[in-house]
Amino acid sequence: MQPSLPHALEMTQDQRELDLLFDPSFIPESARQQLDADLTIRPLASTDHSRGHFDLLSILTIAPPVSPIVYAKTFRNLQSCPNTYFTVVIVSKQTDQLVACGSIIVERKFTRAAGMIGHIEDIAVSKSMQGRKLGLKIINTLEGIGRAMGCYKIILDCNKENIPFYEKCGFKHKEYQMVRYM
Ligand code: ACO
Repeated sequence: MQPSLPHALEMTQDQRELDLLFDPSFIPESARQQLDADLTIRPLASTDHSRGHFDLLSILTIAPPVSPIVYAKTFRNLQSCPNTYFTVVIVSKQTDQLVACGSIIVERKFTRAAGMIGHIEDIAVSKSMQGRKLGLKIINTLEGIGRAMGCYKIILDCNKENIPFYEKCGFKHKEYQMVRYM
């Protein structure tokens, strides 16, 4: 199924100059409008290695920085799967550093009449920016992307402490996660 792109494409000069992971018109215009004036929201860029991407991911889990070459290779791998990997970042205009990020990965199924599920992953907001509703805005943006892609549901795993946050974002508890480390 082809995604519907309902959102007006209004790219800034900076965004036009960046190599972005996906078409920025997937990001709902409302997501840009709801941000404070000191922030901007866009797809991940191939050069975000130097904008504190790993500092941000380290809030979430063990995320030692990879070399710029490995970063670029990973970015290309994701970019080579069209309409699948959508990583959104919020950037401080003042510092040009990432202050929040999150991803939705679109999985195509044979079930549900060849339906699609969106998997939300790697949500992080820098410590100094937590409480400004950036987490909520990232989730709303990813939900908008999942909707535009035609996903029939979006799912995620989180720890117990984050359940109230996701409930505020409109999620409810269902099922259990199993894991086996390799
Ligand atoms: N417990 C209870 N309520 C919370 C919590 C929490 N831990 N975190 C946020 N909320 C509430 C807020 O109070 C707010 O409620 P309100 O609308 O009534 O005022 C609402 O949720 C939205 O909060 P935001 O301001 O959008 O939250 P924030 O921007 O601080 O982001 C996040 C929340 C992403 C959990 C952030 O604290 C963070 O980065 N934590 C560390 C990394 C992490 O745990 N990420 C999630 C991993 S799970 C995954 O990636 C699928």
